[in-house]
Amino acid sequence: MLVEKNVPLEPWNTFHIVAKAHFLLRVARCDDVQQVLADPEWGPRQKFVLGGGSNIVLTGDVKALVLKVEIMGRRLLQETDQSYIVEAGAGESWHDFVTWTLDQGYPGLENLALIPGTVGASPVQNIGAYGLELQDRFESLDAVDLQTGAIFSLNAAQCGFGYRDSVFKHGPTGAAPGSVPQQGMGLAGRALITTVRFRLPKPWKPIVGYADLEKKVLETEVSQPSARQIYDWICDIRRGKLPDPAVLGNAGSFFKNPTVTPEQCADIIARDPKLVHYPLPDGSVKLAAGWLIDACNWRGKSVGQAGVYEKQALVLVNRGGATGGEVMTLAKAIQTSVYERFGILLEPEPQVV
Ligand code: EPU
Repeated sequence: MLVEKNVPLEPWNTFHIVAKAHFLLRVARCDDVQQVLADPEWGPRQKFVLGGGSNIVLTGDVKALVLKVEIMGRRLLQETDQSYIVEAGAGESWHDFVTWTLDQGYPGLENLALIPGTVGASPVQNIGAYGLELQDRFESLDAVDLQTGAIFSLNAAQCGFGYRDSVFKHGPTGAAPGSVPQQGMGLAGRALITTVRFRLPKPWKPIVGYADLEKKVLETEVSQPSARQIYDWICDIRRGKLPDPAVLGNAGSFFKNPTVTPEQCADIIARDPKLVHYPLPDGSVKLAAGWLIDACNWRGKSVGQAGVYEKQALVLVNRGGATGGEVMTLAKAIQTSVYERFGILLEPEPQVV
């Protein structure tokens, strides 16, 4: 077991914030976790699970033992008349995995192309884009309990998926120490996801209802696109409006799109008729956080080296050498002005470390 010391985390967080891990262990197999838990020096220490670093803001050096997940592998587990079940190691790059499924002839994840991060982080966030959420394709996952070392599996219901939400983002709810995690129990900081399985339904059906995709259908006159065609469109759309983290540090959307009551929505529309809003099946209304921020004139603005992306106000960027503190100061200033104008408190998406 090799614990590295004072490891720079700049290459391993997509914001490219400069910070160090006091201690870091690369996890290539389940056994590596169990070994570290059994170790008298490292076992009791606090741990931080790092995937692709695409949804974190580092506000200083990380004192907890960083477990950098590098569990690889991908395979077709089962094919039935109804679906392909595919499996991937948590350390696989999400986008490379999506590309691989298409190359192998297992379509169904194409709408989630080009999302930064790893396979293991995808259920934590319940990543979603262009009319599809991870939960729509999720089958099950395996994880290691970071308190007991027990290996356990969760199905979709046990993951408690919501909009950019899951059981992995919530704290414990009073389960007995040492017990195997149960359905509904918050697992934040407690689970290290090792393997994720996806169910890709047959026959494949395109999902092109999202406005940007409908535009592509009209522009190209391809009314029955293949999965590969949708994948190419998604890559094109994302490259057009979202910054490439390799070029400009960022963590994707910085805030969640808020949900309001129809009355709140009507109240805002009375003052701002151009408000971008989407009625939801449960009667509530989702608002575009990007629009709210844009309406407060934040696009292109900066605090120190942290800025609001010129082409998408929902994305905060590192213009070069930004600290986590600058990113959070900017985020708080945006929250305040959106709250003062619209009475809505935006909720950040990334985990602040
Ligand atoms: N808008 C503005 N000004 C802006 C940005 C957006 O007016 O500066 C308006 C747009 O004109 C559009 C609306 O806001 O009418 C929505 O914008 P967009 O279609 O870009 O989607 P979004 O709601 O901002 C969400 C996800 C993205 C995902 C896209 C596509 C969240 C928090 N974000 O963004 O996810 O890629 O939809 O499905 O749900 C992420 O989570 O990191 C992420 C990138």
